[in-house]
Amino acid sequence: MSEVHVYPVPDSFKNSSSIDLEGYQAMYDQSVNDPDTFWAEQANQFLTWQAPWSQVTKSDLNKGEVAWFIDGKLNVSLNCIDRHLPARADQVAIIWEGDDPDEDQFISYQELHDQVCRLANALRARGVKKGDRVCIYMPMIPEATYAMLACARVGAVHSVVFGGFSPEALKDRILDADCQVVITADEGLRGGKRVPLKANADTALANCPNVHTCIVVRRTAGSISWDGARDFWYHDLIAKQAATCEPEVMDAEDPLFILYTSGSTGKPKGVLHTTGGYLLQAAMTHKYVFDYQEGETYWCTADVGWVTGHSYIVYGPLTNGATTLVFEGIPTYPDASRFWQVIDKHQVNIFYTAPTAIRALMGAGDDWVKKTARTSLRVLGTVGEPINPEAWEWYYRVIGDSRCPIVDTWWQTETGAHMLTPLPGAIALKPGSATLPFFGVQPALLDAEGKEVQGAGEGNLVIKAAWPSQIRSVYGDHQRCIDTYYSTYPGYYFTGDGARRDEDGYYWITGRVDDVLNVSGHRMGTAEVESALVLHEKVAEAAVVGYPHDIKGQGIYAYVTLMSGEEPSDELKKELLALVVKEIGAIARPDIIQWAPGLPKTRSGKIMRRILRKIAANEIDSLGDTSTLADPSVVTQLIENRANK
Ligand code: WTA
Repeated sequence: MSEVHVYPVPDSFKNSSSIDLEGYQAMYDQSVNDPDTFWAEQANQFLTWQAPWSQVTKSDLNKGEVAWFIDGKLNVSLNCIDRHLPARADQVAIIWEGDDPDEDQFISYQELHDQVCRLANALRARGVKKGDRVCIYMPMIPEATYAMLACARVGAVHSVVFGGFSPEALKDRILDADCQVVITADEGLRGGKRVPLKANADTALANCPNVHTCIVVRRTAGSISWDGARDFWYHDLIAKQAATCEPEVMDAEDPLFILYTSGSTGKPKGVLHTTGGYLLQAAMTHKYVFDYQEGETYWCTADVGWVTGHSYIVYGPLTNGATTLVFEGIPTYPDASRFWQVIDKHQVNIFYTAPTAIRALMGAGDDWVKKTARTSLRVLGTVGEPINPEAWEWYYRVIGDSRCPIVDTWWQTETGAHMLTPLPGAIALKPGSATLPFFGVQPALLDAEGKEVQGAGEGNLVIKAAWPSQIRSVYGDHQRCIDTYYSTYPGYYFTGDGARRDEDGYYWITGRVDDVLNVSGHRMGTAEVESALVLHEKVAEAAVVGYPHDIKGQGIYAYVTLMSGEEPSDELKKELLALVVKEIGAIARPDIIQWAPGLPKTRSGKIMRRILRKIAANEIDSLGDTSTLADPSVVTQLIENRANK
């Protein structure tokens, strides 16, 4: 391994109000040695409760049972909005930056309150009550955040579906959560292109008989079809509603949202998060990890369709009374300078993005950056996949002018909030390492026998004790939650990631150890892509693996075996790509399809993906043991015809 450069905490953080190394260590020790006291103090400091809890936490990881702040009562929208009004009614809560650089909006906490209340009243008027599920399929416009907060206000459980998902994927998610209301827009706008959200919703809803209400925001005024019995314009519905709305009193363990995410088998799972513990850890990490200071402008470039958008565009920053920027567009529109221009335009202090965006913009060259000042920046963050040291160094040196610490935050949809991460005033940085655990997080590495690795070493990353923002269940299927996260290593939460721990106790995530791909920071199950491919009548079998991709981190490589008598053709390839886009969405489109007369299988018929991964990565000198293959000649064939030479 090459020498690791260590970046100490900058002097500017040493005398500030940020937590320093001693402070981190003291708080961390308390958080694991006396969690009840630690979390009770944090919960009182960060959140407003309507009734106190009777017990801080109770969990049984063998059963996947986790509860925090038992019997405590609170409402998320009250915490994100109402309680800030006495002090900051006129402060900007949301800066909205449109796809078009000439479009923006500044929404104060008072306006946010009024908008959320109107929509909450409208939802109630449409019969939505506590516990009902509402699907949100929206572009990155302020109404997306109003929709989430309005659900929280009336106690409805939102299920945000990323606007890039296809009608088919949307339908599956609506049905799985049995949503009866959908909130969408006529069209989205990204990089100057229109995204047909309402048309997609129409296609999905044709097979969702329980959806009685579809609320449509007018974003582009493009032409759309209309179902007079089911569809309502957002502006019409809220026009009649009052700007005040009594928030539902929620139990700390009442569900807040469902968010679908990919696993190694089957259809995406509806990860269920609840109210108190989730909000606390989202708010705490937003404060401590980004070292958020009163009055700062904060920008997370994620989409609200992903967990990062939930915790770090909406819930964390708003709980802390911050100004959060919502960006509708993409990093390269109108040109590759857009992110840096937005930072200057709105004087962004904290900036949080994904390695894939950093790599793409690094590839566009420094000139795009150099013509902007970026002097407002103080802290940089990254999330979603391991960041390669070259991209880290570029982010640090060119974007942050060697002045801003980078917080490389490791976490998952299931963890709800940051788990392994530096704190900018406390922890020296090593490019590519997510460094140390956040308060209360007890990571461990398990070896092949399931024993904990001590000291420096490598293994499967697990978490030993419950944390507040932990997944509570897989919606409608708790057994699947147990099987996925708690049965591989009884007594532990299994992350699905591998990691290395160095001599300083720093963690280095090595990537997924299961059949989950990470494409541009988006999770994708190989099984999902395979099921889409085999829907084609000419396809007999498909095996999908990831391979190293310069920008996306991982690309999707599909091996496809045709039915006997069928011939490969470019036309068929196009049909297969279109089929995947139809079933899942453009983010799942394979980068490479290789026709495979046969797939490498064991004598018991199990596909040996290890070998397929090696061929896809063009690492044919290290195929490993092939002696258990039923027919080794299959491999020779695949190597000769590999597409990634
Ligand atoms: C990966 C996104 C390395 C990891 C918040 C994890 C990371 C999966 C990092 C979760 C990071 C996320 N360094 N790998 N800083 N952050 N990952 O559910 O493999 O979309 O298991 O949550 O992304 O992806 P998810």
